[in-house]
Amino acid sequence: MSVQKIAVIPGDGIGPEVAAVGVQVLEAVAELHDLPLEFTWFDFGAEKYLAEGVTLPQSAFEDFRDNYDAIYLGALGDPRVPDMAHAKDILLGLRFRLDLYVNLRPARLLHPALTPLKNKTPDDLDFVILRENTEGLYVGIGGRFKQGTPDEIAINEMVQTRKGVERIVRAAFEWAVENERKRVCMADKANVLRDAHGLWQDVFVEVAEEYPDIAARHLYADVLAMELVRAPEDFDVIVTGNLLGDVLSDLSAQLVGGLGLAPSGNIHPGRVSLFEPVHGSAPPLAGKDIANPLAMVLTGAQMLEFLGHGEAAMAVEAAVVQALREHRVTRDLGGELGTRAVGDALVRFVHAPPPAA
Ligand code: NAD
Ligand code: IPM
Ligand code: MN
Repeated sequence: MSVQKIAVIPGDGIGPEVAAVGVQVLEAVAELHDLPLEFTWFDFGAEKYLAEGVTLPQSAFEDFRDNYDAIYLGALGDPRVPDMAHAKDILLGLRFRLDLYVNLRPARLLHPALTPLKNKTPDDLDFVILRENTEGLYVGIGGRFKQGTPDEIAINEMVQTRKGVERIVRAAFEWAVENERKRVCMADKANVLRDAHGLWQDVFVEVAEEYPDIAARHLYADVLAMELVRAPEDFDVIVTGNLLGDVLSDLSAQLVGGLGLAPSGNIHPGRVSLFEPVHGSAPPLAGKDIANPLAMVLTGAQMLEFLGHGEAAMAVEAAVVQALREHRVTRDLGGELGTRAVGDALVRFVHAPPPAA
C-alpha cells in the first residue's frame, strides 16, 4: 500500500497537547496494523500569526490539497487574536477552499455513566449530525457600516445554494444507507427563514423521495434541541445547516460525555479531508496537562476510517472504551490522570486489548 500522508496542525491552546496524544496513539496502532501513515507537523496558529503575520500561506494550502490524504488539526483560538483572523484562514479557509461540505459529528455514548440524561443507555444515544460546512451564515459576506455610531448597521448574509443543500442532504441519506440506519431528520428554521431554509425544505422532500426505505422527518431546530434531550433514541442521522449544526453538535456532545469526547470530520468524499475535535482551544486549560485528549483520539479513529483502515479505527475506539471503563481519564470526566498519562494508557490498551467478551 502506498504511503498515506497526514498533515498535523496542532494549533493553539490545548491543541498541541491533545494532538501529541492523538498522533502517539495513531502511530502505535499504525505500527501494529502495518499502516503506511506518514505524519508531517505544521506550526500554523496564533503564535505564528502574531510573530510573522502568517495564517495559511497559499503554498501550504496547495501542498495540503495536492500532496496529502488528510489533515489532523487540534484546535484554533487564542485570546490574543480576538477576531480569530488566523482561524478564519486556517480552519474555515480549509473547510471552504477544500470544499469539505460534510461536517460529520457523531454522538455516541461510549460508557453508560457519561450521559447527564436520566434512564438513557448507550442504545439510546447513538446518532450522527451532518452539518453543512461550506455555506449558510459562515460565508463571511457582510460588514459593519457606520461602525461605532448610533446609526451602525451590521450584516451577515446567509447563503444557501441548491447544489450545496442537495449534496449535504444526499450525504445524510447515503450515510444512513451505508450504516444501516433507518431515520434521517432535517432541522432548520424555515418558519422564519422562509427563503434560505425554504430551500432546505424543498430539497429535503425531493431527495427523501429517492430513499423510500429511510424514514424522513423534519423538525424545526429549536424543537430538535428539545427532542435530543427528551428522546435521543428517536434519532439516527440529523442533517442541518452550518450555524445550527455548530450549536446542535455541542449540545449532542454534552449528552454523551462532553466536548472532551466529541470527534468530527470535515469531509469531501474522495478528497483530502480535515479531522478535528469538536472542542476549541480551551485557553484556561492549556499547558497544564489536564486537557482531555480522547476527542482528539476518537477524531483520529474517524480519520483512520476515512483512510480505509476500519479495523485500526475500531482498535483505537476499543482503547478509548477501555480507558473509560477503567477510569483512566482526565478530571473533566472525574478521573485523575493528566493528558499525557491518558495517552500512555491508550497505547498500552492498543497493544494489549482485553479479551473479546
Ligand atoms: P472550548 O471548546 O475551547 O471550551 C468550552 C468548554 O469545554 C470549556 O469549559 C473547556 O474547558 C471545555 N473543554 C473543551 N475541550 C476540552 C478538553 N479537551 N478537555 C477538557 N475540557 C475541555 O470553547 P470556547 O472556550 O468557547 O473557545 C475557546 C477558543 O477556541 C475560542 O477562541 C474559540 O473560538 C475556539 N474554538 C475553536 C474550535 C476549533 O478549533 N475547531 C472549536 C470551538 C471553539
Ligand atoms: C467548531 C467551531 C468553529 C465553528 C469556530 C472555531 C470557527 O466552533 O468547529 O465547531 O464555528 O465551526
Ligand atoms: Mn463549534
